Amino acid sequence: MTRKEFQKVEWKIPLFKIYSDEADIEMVNQAIRRGMFWAIGPNVELFEQMLSQYIGAKHTLVFNSGTSALHAVLLAYGVGTGDEVIVPSFTFIATANAPLFVGARPVFADIEERTYGLDPEDVERRITPNTRAIIPIHYGGSPCLIRELKGVAGRNNLLLIEDAAESLGAAVNGKKVGTFGDSAILSFCSNKVITTGEGGAVLTDSAELYEKLKLIRSHGRAETSNYFSSSEYMDYVSLGYNFRMSDITAALGISQLEKIERITEMRRSKAGMMSERLSGITGIEAPYSSKGVFHVYQMYTVKVKGGRDKRDALSDYLANKGIMTRVYFPPVHLTHFYKNSLGYKCSLPITEKVSEQVLTLPMYPGLTEDEIDYIADSIIAFFA
Ligand SMILES: Cc1ncc(COP(=O)(O)O)c(C=O)c1O
Repeated sequence: MTRKEFQKVEWKIPLFKIYSDEADIEMVNQAIRRGMFWAIGPNVELFEQMLSQYIGAKHTLVFNSGTSALHAVLLAYGVGTGDEVIVPSFTFIATANAPLFVGARPVFADIEERTYGLDPEDVERRITPNTRAIIPIHYGGSPCLIRELKGVAGRNNLLLIEDAAESLGAAVNGKKVGTFGDSAILSFCSNKVITTGEGGAVLTDSAELYEKLKLIRSHGRAETSNYFSSSEYMDYVSLGYNFRMSDITAALGISQLEKIERITEMRRSKAGMMSERLSGITGIEAPYSSKGVFHVYQMYTVKVKGGRDKRDALSDYLANKGIMTRVYFPPVHLTHFYKNSLGYKCSLPITEKVSEQVLTLPMYPGLTEDEIDYIADSIIAFFA
């Protein structure tokens, strides 16, 4: 079978499985049974309060995706035409697209090889008088060098917006990612640490930013109470979108967040087992983690020594065994859109090298020991 044909088959072990229980179903049922407040409702505010408390941010606003959260936060800061925003190319494309949404230019900086996050020195080299912001990502549950990046942003008077889409709960010396920058975004898409199917959030300590985001999220409407159950006139004071998360979605968010400690512990313990099983194989490197860093393993990505051909051969070999893997991420600057439509030509040697070596293996809270053995034994057999 070719790689394409494999995508159609049912995987014995998929890349991720959603962790869900009866409490999720009950919360959604309750929201539905209420028969009202399906759009703007009490679960939205409760989910926001719970997120603020969990992460340690003063304000949280939930959105209908991580992408709309990124879009909204750049609008709220007034980033626009003529501005440059430094982003990684080793990321999901939404990080880089966000500056384009508001008419600004994404400027790619290289990553460092351990956390796969932005390299602070390379970021500093790419700063120009037009730079307004830096958007680092915390890759797959692994905190980037966020303290160093905060230093770069501070010295150069730039906004630091953390893209923590993949890393809810990750921390450095006990401080959660999402609390280092001026603001941060999260995603609750299906493959994230906790999920609402689709969803996102912005976190910030700034009351001013929070007020602007509220307007952007809901049509620029100055909402004094629940718009759908109030006959009050509410004025429209700025340009806005419908980036709202529904109350039914937020209900699911609440019950997912209530079990995040368990989910995270399961991810960390499964990742530990996997690393242990793979430790004897010289052809691959397990994910990096260091003292003081709390990795939440939204993804479990190995580095395959020997480069692209070897990595792709391993991926095909595992596919033959029913094990799904994926390359996270092919560089954004090499996509058709950035290369051909936007004409990007970048020198990002580490990004290009790393993206030819990485392979993301299945990782989810419910991964069983038998499945871990099956994956590890298959990898051992490949290298034998
Ligand atoms: C690093 C990163 N940023 C942004 C996003 C966008 O989030 P969403 O898919 O919720 O729009 C994702 C999600 O895949 C992501 O991985």
